[in-house]
Amino acid sequence: MKILVTGGCGYIGSATARWLHRRGVEVSVIDDLSEGHRRAWDGALAELDLLDRDACHRWLADQHFDGVIHFAARCYVGESVQQPVRYWRANVVPLIHLTEVLEGVPIVFSSSCATYGFPRTPTLAEDHPQQPVNPYGATKLAAERLLNDRDAAGLGRFAALRYFNAAGASADGRHGEHHDPETHLIPLAIRAALGQGSPLTVFGTDWDTPDGSCIRDYIHVDDLASAHYRALEHLLEGGESDVWNLGTGRGSSVIEVIETVGRLCGTPVPHEIGPRREGDPQTLVANADKARRDLGWEPAYRELAALVETAVRWHKQQPAGYA
Ligand SMILES: NC(=O)c1ccc[n+]([C@@H]2O[C@H](COP(=O)([O-])OP(=O)(O)OC[C@H]3O[C@@H](n4cnc5c(N)ncnc54)[C@H](O)[C@@H]3O)[C@@H](O)[C@H]2O)c1
Repeated sequence: MKILVTGGCGYIGSATARWLHRRGVEVSVIDDLSEGHRRAWDGALAELDLLDRDACHRWLADQHFDGVIHFAARCYVGESVQQPVRYWRANVVPLIHLTEVLEGVPIVFSSSCATYGFPRTPTLAEDHPQQPVNPYGATKLAAERLLNDRDAAGLGRFAALRYFNAAGASADGRHGEHHDPETHLIPLAIRAALGQGSPLTVFGTDWDTPDGSCIRDYIHVDDLASAHYRALEHLLEGGESDVWNLGTGRGSSVIEVIETVGRLCGTPVPHEIGPRREGDPQTLVANADKARRDLGWEPAYRELAALVETAVRWHKQQPAGYA
């Protein structure tokens, strides 16, 4: 089996590329290294920008793939609000360039819970209305629609995986999350606790939650990797196109994360309480029953502490990340 992984030098893409490689899959990565890291993936790499249509088509013309996993995108919600046109281009055009060439090839796509917008139910299932509240979520929804239309025309099946909050690092501490700038809570809290970053700001403790802080569903990066493998298997065995949420179904509050990180680092997380941040939903928790049922997928990291422990190990062993 030969699989193309776009964005395979990024955080989730590299974890998935390694996961596939360990299971005997031949993996080729495309990444322009705009956000990714060469050290995150030591296998075959085509360093090219998927926005460059000619270069992308030229490279693909010489290749055959059984499937594609498409991670490459820009991923900062705040930046997408400031630069919507850049996000529409970065997150939709590469998929157009790929699908123009890869007729009939199944695609597993990195979608997001950001396609739902503000939750209307305590947990979000796949049939929750999709009304994104920022350009990032809108671009992910647009890509899902493109894949739907391609499927309806018989041009190739797809699996859209809507992740909640990706977190954690490889169990051996050699690979982990390195974004610049970092905007995710767990790495920011760890860096603050280890004296590698500034004190953390908690955006509001007056929400209607047990401790007043926002609640999110943290899913381990290796659990995301195993879900991509399952989704790929589903498509390669002739399964229908579909969408699946990927989360644990368990919410953790910001305060819980701070306490867990402090305990595992052996030093409290320096933090201050700030006002609520505009556009933040109070609670985002997945209903991921469908992925369990259809794909036989089960997250291995169900407890927050087990997940955070892997991230702490990575930050201690690699204080500069991949730099
Ligand atoms: N991290 C999360 O919590 C989360 C949650 C939901 C969805 N997602 C989605 O998962 C995917 C991966 O996220 P991540 O956190 O690993 O991001 P990341 O920034 O670490 O990885 C993205 C990779 O894509 C590459 N890339 C971007 N544009 C490219 C282009 N035009 N050509 C070639 N390569 C390009 C970057 O260099 C980077 O290596 C993204 O599509 C993101 O939207 C992430």
